[in-house]
Amino acid sequence: MVQIAKEIKRMKTILICGSSGGLGTEITKFFGDKEFDLALHYYDHPPEFIPSGAKTYKADLRNEGEIMKMIDQINTDLGGVDIVIHNAGISKSEISWKVTSENWDDTIAINLSGPFWVTKYVLPHMRENNFGRVIFMSSIVAQTGSIGAAAYGASKAGLIGLTKTLSKELANKSITVNSIALGYFNTGMINDVPDEMRDKLLEEIPLNELGDPLQLASLMEYIISDKAAYLTGQTLNLNGGLYS
Ligand SMILES: NC(=O)c1ccc[n+]([C@@H]2O[C@H](COP(=O)([O-])OP(=O)(O)OC[C@H]3O[C@@H](n4cnc5c(N)ncnc54)[C@H](OP(=O)(O)O)[C@@H]3O)[C@@H](O)[C@H]2O)c1
Repeated sequence: MVQIAKEIKRMKTILICGSSGGLGTEITKFFGDKEFDLALHYYDHPPEFIPSGAKTYKADLRNEGEIMKMIDQINTDLGGVDIVIHNAGISKSEISWKVTSENWDDTIAINLSGPFWVTKYVLPHMRENNFGRVIFMSSIVAQTGSIGAAAYGASKAGLIGLTKTLSKELANKSITVNSIALGYFNTGMINDVPDEMRDKLLEEIPLNELGDPLQLASLMEYIISDKAAYLTGQTLNLNGGLYS
């Protein structure tokens, strides 16, 4: 009987937002062969890598209605989201006195408001289950500032504040909320950085190399595990020593 009960117990579902991007693809590969159901979110480019059994969901994170529909569909397909990795994000380099309202609004909407709405709509399932893991992707830019990154830095700093409040609101339901503040990684947005700037960045990183997505996914694996049940409200720096 116990054996049967174990077999019919549903696997935990991870929603990976921005699964189609550089880091999203690698995070998906990492969790693809582990004991999870995967809900892969994308916006404009369907994910190239879809592990067997994973389901894909399209939504524009600027649109609360689309987010609601996506979560409803995941609830129907997979029985709810237990773990959410907020990996979608954009970065538009613009000096502050030239920032357009469209770019400002898009950056705040996709990087900060969207992750909040996604979290809001996955919470009923997590609260009911007395379990949940929320991981936001912040950035070293929120901590140090960077020329041309007014909207990006503000949006990523917002996630750090959001992490603190949500962690306090949700602790009594055993839902943990943490941010990872990334330095510079070897895939994704880094490809938009000119070679010259990339070389300069490398010189500044004490460990002298860009981050590897495997290091990021391994940290996520720990955060979502039972071993990390006491870790909440934190921003974990993963940056090769660039900021401490
Ligand atoms: N790579 C780094 O070195 C680095 C450093 C610090 C922080 N980060 C953070 O890590 C995360 C992933 O970065 P990445 O480098 O992998 O970026 P990326 O390759 O540019 O991927 C961005 C992701 O965001 C999604 N997205 C864009 N606009 C969207 C919208 N309107 N609605 C919903 N999703 C949208 C994209 O979906 P589609 O492709 O389907 O449109 C894509 O999956 C971001 O939050 C970024 O800020 C990255």
